[in-house]
Amino acid sequence: MPGTGKKEDARIQVTKNGPYMVTGSIPLVKQILVCDKKGNSIGWREGERYPLQETYALCRCGGSRTRPFCDGTHLTNKFDGTETASRRPYLERAGWTEGPDIRLSDAPGFCSHARFCVRGKGIWDLIGQSGSEKAKRTTLEMAANCHSGRLVVWDKKTERPLEPVFEKSIGLVEGPVGGMLGPLWVRGGIPIIAADGFPYEVRNRVTLCRCGRSSNKPFCDGSHMQG
Ligand code: FES
Repeated sequence: MPGTGKKEDARIQVTKNGPYMVTGSIPLVKQILVCDKKGNSIGWREGERYPLQETYALCRCGGSRTRPFCDGTHLTNKFDGTETASRRPYLERAGWTEGPDIRLSDAPGFCSHARFCVRGKGIWDLIGQSGSEKAKRTTLEMAANCHSGRLVVWDKKTERPLEPVFEKSIGLVEGPVGGMLGPLWVRGGIPIIAADGFPYEVRNRVTLCRCGRSSNKPFCDGSHMQG
């Protein structure tokens, strides 16, 4: 069933070999990756906000001349948008690493390779040291910056995830140099519906491919980084 422009009907519909149809007045904003001098990913900077539209179509094939919006190019460039991603819920796919007060779940199948987690000796090493406030803070920051939602930190006392709070919105990810275009960063629990009607698990953060090259469609798998 097609969505409407009403806020309560916010969702992203994947279309067969075509664009993402976005409904429910979802804000659209550029998100630029911030790196330090050594090239480590350390955060995000908000860029241009697009005028709010009730409904719109976002390019999924990577060929549109009016990106981020669809211009119909998928009809002529033989775009194969077949969805191949696992449909199993995150927790069924995740492995665990234990720290003193927090634990980390990790489902590599969601990864879009923004590389926040590999700073220093990596988040899997750092969480073992998270008895110290500084290591705990850095662990939380690295996981929260993971836009794909591959990494989630959990409080061991409450068994609750320690998630960043997002407004329902879509981030247009760009690299720090050369305008490299990354995925759509879907935030705040927006339902994503497959072209065959299957509702993917609703998550607080997840990344959708918009270059057309992912082998894990509709999700990003980092293939956009290959030029
Ligand atoms: S945007 Fe296509 S693989 Fe990342």
